[in-house]
Amino acid sequence: MATRERSWAEPYKIKMVEPLRMTTREERERALVDAGFNTFLLRSQDVYIDLLTDSGTSAMSDRQWAGMMLGDEAYAGSANFYHLEAAVQRAYGYRYVVPTHQGRGAENILSKCMIQPGDYVPGNMYFTTTRAHQELAGATFVDIIIDEAHDPSSPHPFKGDVDMAKLDALVERVGPKRVPYVSVAATVNMAGGQPISMRSLREVASYCRAKGIKVILDATRAVENAWFIKQREAGYERKSIAEILLETCSYTDGCTMSGKKDLLVNIGGFLALNDKDLYDRASNLVVLYEGLHTYGGLAGRDMEAMAIGIHEAIQEDHIRARIGQVEYVGERLAREGIPIVKPIGGHAVFLDARAFLPHIPQTSFPAQALAAELYLDSGIRSMERGIVSAGRDQKTGENHLPKLELVRLTFPRRVYTQAHCDVVVESVAEVFANRERVRGLKMVYEPAVLRFFQARFEPLPL
Ligand code: F0G
Repeated sequence: MATRERSWAEPYKIKMVEPLRMTTREERERALVDAGFNTFLLRSQDVYIDLLTDSGTSAMSDRQWAGMMLGDEAYAGSANFYHLEAAVQRAYGYRYVVPTHQGRGAENILSKCMIQPGDYVPGNMYFTTTRAHQELAGATFVDIIIDEAHDPSSPHPFKGDVDMAKLDALVERVGPKRVPYVSVAATVNMAGGQPISMRSLREVASYCRAKGIKVILDATRAVENAWFIKQREAGYERKSIAEILLETCSYTDGCTMSGKKDLLVNIGGFLALNDKDLYDRASNLVVLYEGLHTYGGLAGRDMEAMAIGIHEAIQEDHIRARIGQVEYVGERLAREGIPIVKPIGGHAVFLDARAFLPHIPQTSFPAQALAAELYLDSGIRSMERGIVSAGRDQKTGENHLPKLELVRLTFPRRVYTQAHCDVVVESVAEVFANRERVRGLKMVYEPAVLRFFQARFEPLPL
């Protein structure tokens, strides 16, 4: 007997709403010109569905809001810090916790503590702020991700995996003393939200331990990574997300964390470490850059919300619905024949702008142009992740030319409904139907660092 299809829905209901403003196409045209065709420079009041990022944009739960009322705003030794510390120790398994205002605060402290000028930091692809802090501290970043990660159509289930031959070649070339740590991200944002397997983490750990090299995890979306391991890696089907997360961290010596993603808060992060000496140095440096080591740039209430968020993030119903929503959009787009990165990522669907707009050369910023066009069509805000984000080579000053030229449709957690998702799919399909009318762009203002945030563009003639 055929089973009837059964729908599933979000494991929460709405208790408070934030009205959205609808705009006309003329209003959006004006807003886009004012923003220099850069979606980062749009005012959020002019945006209908905001898929710029999942960072700090999630909806907190009633329990997190209740926790906000329990802020212990003491300068030193806030009770909320100890809640946060205990929650990190329990869920991530690291010994020492230094709070920071967000992920890049932790990256700055870590890079300053661990990197000497002339060092090399290998990583499974780069993240913009992570690499920028490594470079500011004097290191050269080396990409050691598997080749499949650079191919938007490869169906590899773990595109975040490390290519051990690439890692070994670097260590052989420069010597283990010049490699203070390997930077592993779970999931890999710039590869399209792709996971790293437990097998690869285990391999990296055993290689690095033998050579005396540390492994530092970017744990920003490690809960999402755990979900993919549970779905895709043999032996993990019956393990809980909490168990998989703990095992992930056990292969590393510490992590940097942007709590603004997995942990369901609007602001917050931390650096967690197992080594006492390193912790002592980090908790000393944090005083200089963020705040005392028991608040690190956060209010007590923010630390409380993050501690509660840690607990909520690892609930299976939550993570299934979170990734399920992204999958829903990705599958519908793929069915319309729209080129997206496969497999579908954890936090976002990535449009392949090269395949979407083959008539625009990479130096005319196809992903930037596509993000602008989507905004014009329906007020949806997305983000460029291609040549603009990749920036310039530090030594030669030439543009990096990344293989991936993507537009990211990033989903905040617990914010949008399935009806919003349908509007998004229909808008992308509309732009795809009229794609030959989309024009390339010219960069007319380029900031010195992390240029994608503030660069300005003008359209080229068709
Ligand atoms: N690592 C990863 C993998 C990230 O995605 C981010 C931020 C950071 C570190 C830095 O954390 O923003 O708290 O300082 N990603 C945001 C995004 C900006 O939109 O993907 P932060």
